[in-house]
Amino acid sequence: MSSQSWLVKTPLYLALMWDSLITSFTLLIANLLPKLTPPFVNLDGKVAIVTGANSGIGFAIAEALAKRNATVYLACRNTSKGQEAATQIIDACGEGSSKRVHVLELDTSSMASVRNFAERWPQRPQNDQVSAIDARHDVCDLLIWMYAAYRPPIP
Ligand SMILES: NC(=O)c1ccc[n+]([C@@H]2O[C@H](COP(=O)([O-])OP(=O)(O)OC[C@H]3O[C@@H](n4cnc5c(N)ncnc54)[C@H](OP(=O)(O)O)[C@@H]3O)[C@@H](O)[C@H]2O)c1
Repeated sequence: MSSQSWLVKTPLYLALMWDSLITSFTLLIANLLPKLTPPFVNLDGKVAIVTGANSGIGFAIAEALAKRNATVYLACRNTSKGQEAATQIIDACGEGSSKRVHVLELDTSSMASVRNFAERWPQRPQNDQVSAIDARHDVCDLLIWMYAAYRPPIP
């Protein structure tokens, strides 16, 4: 290896070592700090729609909302995957949550699917018991549009 190539590589090695040192230091400090837990907010009576809810961030948000007692609609393009996700959420939240966690079909990249979703919304599955939520047919309190199509759907 020529001395010239060492001249080029040495700053790179130093930069990598410096980066590793800073990362290790940051991780160490982060572990020493107290863990932050968000305050529990009771969302009983609130209705939420979460798109892309069968995996990733959408799933985590849907589960967190269900754990806070919200009625959650998992809007998924693949309803079998959505049902699996709903089962996992119900398992995590307790059997009573099965009345609050539902799956609806929605492909955010298709305008026809979006229209269809909106048209079926008033007939969506709702809580068995007669409650304030059931009376509010058009209401959605939270729309978590987690998975957005990068290009607007073609009408
Ligand atoms: N993860 C990150 O660090 C990060 C950071 C910044 C931004 N984001 C953005 O946040 C969003 C979610 O990220 P993620 O990591 O949770 O992604 P992911 O794990 O890939 O989840 C994507 C979810 O969206 C669904 N989906 C895909 N196309 C859809 C469509 N046309 N209609 C309805 N649902 C659809 C997928 O369903 P299928 O299972 O049917 O494919 C899946 O459930 C993405 O838009 C991503 O770009 C993520």
